[in-house]
Amino acid sequence: MSQAKASALVIGTGAIGQALVAELQSRYASVLALGRSSDPAINFEDEPSIAAAAHWTAGESADAPLRLLLVASGFLHGPAGQPERSLKELQPGYLTHSFLVNAIGPALLMKHFLPLLPRQGPCKAVFLSARVGSIEDNRLGGWYGYRAAKAALNQLVKTASIEQARRNKQATVLALHPGTVDSPLSAPFSKSGLDVRSPAVAAGQIVQVIEALDAADTGSFVDYRGERLPW
Ligand SMILES: NC(=O)c1ccc[n+]([C@@H]2O[C@H](COP(=O)([O-])OP(=O)(O)OC[C@H]3O[C@@H](n4cnc5c(N)ncnc54)[C@H](OP(=O)(O)O)[C@@H]3O)[C@@H](O)[C@H]2O)c1
Repeated sequence: MSQAKASALVIGTGAIGQALVAELQSRYASVLALGRSSDPAINFEDEPSIAAAAHWTAGESADAPLRLLLVASGFLHGPAGQPERSLKELQPGYLTHSFLVNAIGPALLMKHFLPLLPRQGPCKAVFLSARVGSIEDNRLGGWYGYRAAKAALNQLVKTASIEQARRNKQATVLALHPGTVDSPLSAPFSKSGLDVRSPAVAAGQIVQVIEALDAADTGSFVDYRGERLPW
């Protein structure tokens, strides 16, 4: 469906985020992208940078209302550490960073960007989560920091969906698992045999799912095929 008079905003310009921006170009009048290196830049450790980026977005979407917010930022491994295989590997620094990028940052994005979505008419806010954040689906253990931070994100999404429904009955707020996608985040962990898709293929599937879901699906956790996942 074309959103000829609407804007979309993607936050987090990693592999999936960039592919989502490309996928949305033909569908929205304007597609905005924000991340740590955009201008204005978003820094999850600096709330004023998030507030300033939201203020900028309000100006940029004045003529074409913001009807889609897609948050594609996330952290699994890097200088702050690696996902843990067992309790003895738990490190405060890694846990803190995982919660900062996967849960606290997105929570502050909810605070500053959800008020930019219109009070009337359909609008969607989608947060990329991960299946391993499902508590019920956890059969393998490990990855404490990433699992727990994505579970926290899922709770934040669910809670915000309830508040957002009071503001606009046609709003849809979702957590979405993109599946395994070829990206710097997944590279060290994508074993052969897994269905690893390119960011472009994944972005096409994600946008199709987002277009098919509506306010009846708000507050849910879905995957890139549109299937519901257990919390
Ligand atoms: N790839 C997969 O197989 C897979 C599987 C399940 C879930 N996911 C989820 O999908 C989303 C996108 O992942 P991806 O594969 O595209 O990973 P990616 O290429 O590593 O991109 C992640 C992006 O998150 C943002 N980010 C990272 N650290 C940050 C920090 N300290 N502060 C603010 N932003 C930070 C960055 O965006 P900027 O550079 O623009 O700041 C980064 O480019 C994540 O939420 C991830 O957990 C991915």
